[in-house]
Amino acid sequence: MLCGGTRKCLLPDPSPRTPILFITLEGIDGAGKSTHLNSLAHWWRDQGREVVLTREPGGTPLAERLRDLVLHEPMDALTESLLVFAARREHVLQVIEPALARGAVVLCDRFSDASFAYQGGGRGFDWGVLLQLEQWVHGQRQPDLTLWFDVPPEVAQARRAAVRQPDRFEAQDADFFHRVRAAYERRRAADPARFERIDAHAAPELVGQQVLSVMAARAAAAGGCP
Ligand code: TYD
Repeated sequence: MLCGGTRKCLLPDPSPRTPILFITLEGIDGAGKSTHLNSLAHWWRDQGREVVLTREPGGTPLAERLRDLVLHEPMDALTESLLVFAARREHVLQVIEPALARGAVVLCDRFSDASFAYQGGGRGFDWGVLLQLEQWVHGQRQPDLTLWFDVPPEVAQARRAAVRQPDRFEAQDADFFHRVRAAYERRRAADPARFERIDAHAAPELVGQQVLSVMAARAAAAGGCP
């Protein structure tokens, strides 16, 4: 059956009893989430699972080209929203759905929550339009688990300043990141069972321990490794 009971989005319905397969990592720039992707991948491989590590915007050649535009070319918030969702459509069809269909664990650095956080919260773009784009692009498909690396924007900003040249998002001021963080909180409030908040202010080893213990608890609650 196709999602939403319509033929619009051409994606299969997710299974009714969802194991933990599709895992996303979210948070403001500088929250440190990328550091923990590899340890999560190791953890799942140790359980004998195939792991697909991917990211958004990006994950396919076309989506990576769109990423380059979104991160570096000036554009308005609607254009930005359309491009991140266009990249996502490609990524969902080419990478995420095929991987989930063969039973792989997909670890994805950002997904639609980032569009609500950055375009919706940061840029102030229409939340209702984003909901519509989300429905068109991936229908009922949502991550089984979202790890939200939460950190005060000022702490994240100090971390970013220490490591690299900022892109169009990283160059935004503290108010922008306060809005991004508030929008993540809004997404979590709308679907609390999907989210785990990780206190990313702690030292990296402690954050890593939180991540793996949350992962183990969630996998166990879903009936062990699927
Ligand atoms: P990020 O994931 O932080 O990668 P890196 O660690 O290599 O900088 O960068 C992606 C940026 O894209 C980030 O600033 C958030 C932004 N973004 C959006 O604005 N909307 C989206 O839908 C997504 C997926 C990302």
